[in-house]
Amino acid sequence: MLSTEHSPSRVFITGGAGYIGSHVVLALGEAGHEVLTYDNLSTGNREAVLHGELVVGDLADRMLLQQTLERFRPDAVVHFAASIEVGESVRDPLKYYRNNSANALNLLEAVRAAGIGRFIFSSTAAVYGNPPTVPVDEEAPLAPINPYGASKLVTERMLADLAAADPHFCYVALRYFNVAGADPQVRLGQDYANPTHLVTRALKTALGIFPGLQVFGTDYPTPDGTCVRDYIHVSDLARAHLDALGYLLGGGESRVCNCGYGHGFSVREVVAAAKRVTGIDFPVAETARRDGDPAELVAASGRARTLLGWQPQHDDLDFIIRTAWEWELKLKKQR
Ligand code: UFG
Repeated sequence: MLSTEHSPSRVFITGGAGYIGSHVVLALGEAGHEVLTYDNLSTGNREAVLHGELVVGDLADRMLLQQTLERFRPDAVVHFAASIEVGESVRDPLKYYRNNSANALNLLEAVRAAGIGRFIFSSTAAVYGNPPTVPVDEEAPLAPINPYGASKLVTERMLADLAAADPHFCYVALRYFNVAGADPQVRLGQDYANPTHLVTRALKTALGIFPGLQVFGTDYPTPDGTCVRDYIHVSDLARAHLDALGYLLGGGESRVCNCGYGHGFSVREVVAAAKRVTGIDFPVAETARRDGDPAELVAASGRARTLLGWQPQHDDLDFIIRTAWEWELKLKKQR
């Protein structure tokens, strides 16, 4: 394995102004890489790009995409830009196939035309649907139960087929589990207009921005009846991208890797942790299930550790929530 710290490279990042992308841009910058972010700012923020150049552009704009790739001549492309909400994907599936599958096809065509042979893809645990066994490893059946997961799986298939057809094209698809938390130095965090993810909703409820938190479903076949997820700190996830880059630039072959810690917390446990960390007993209501939610998603994450050399450092739910809370307090002070 080649260490990315010793080999500065040029990395083209779609969605680098978004939550996870911006943490990866920062981590790459700190490791000495040159970065260009390509983002349409539909959900991302200009101020979140703390390193390198930002080109405001859409993946549907083939001309601008091609020109930017040919000008920057990256060693690798990291593709984050996507729609990411399970519930919305059930209500508006075509938005997901457009943004996540059709736009990925555009990008792959442009990447190929520019002769770029290294690609890192933000995939998701949602490709597994309701896995037959948990923790779920990368060989488990791919059976998404919502359009979000299906739209990402389409791109995984494109990548696998392209890599099979072209020996010069290699990729790593990282299947993210539940990403949460913020940069421990509080330079970055999640900043969407209407966040839907559990940790952010809970903390904004603690701040009084939302009147109450809803727990979606208490009748799942899990120990306390609420859904179980593998929450991973965003900076650990960012590190996995640097490891994947080093792996690919070191000649690694195409692989898919889970990104999670290997153990899960229920919605109720996350709510209790949010109350503990903030010291605020915010209102919580138990409501019906949300469409498209699998009962339990927990990663078997051995492959990322052994293949990519990934060494997560923040496997601690309270730490994850504390960093997200510091970020929320900073946002509140600014606005
Ligand atoms: N939840 C609530 N109330 C809320 C928000 C969420 O009860 O206000 C519950 C959900 O029903 C779910 C759990 O909290 O059971 C986590 O929900 P999130 O919306 O935070 O995250 P998801 O599990 O839906 O999805 C996330 C990512 C996906 C990824 C998936 C993999 O958005 O990209 O984790 O586990 F695929």
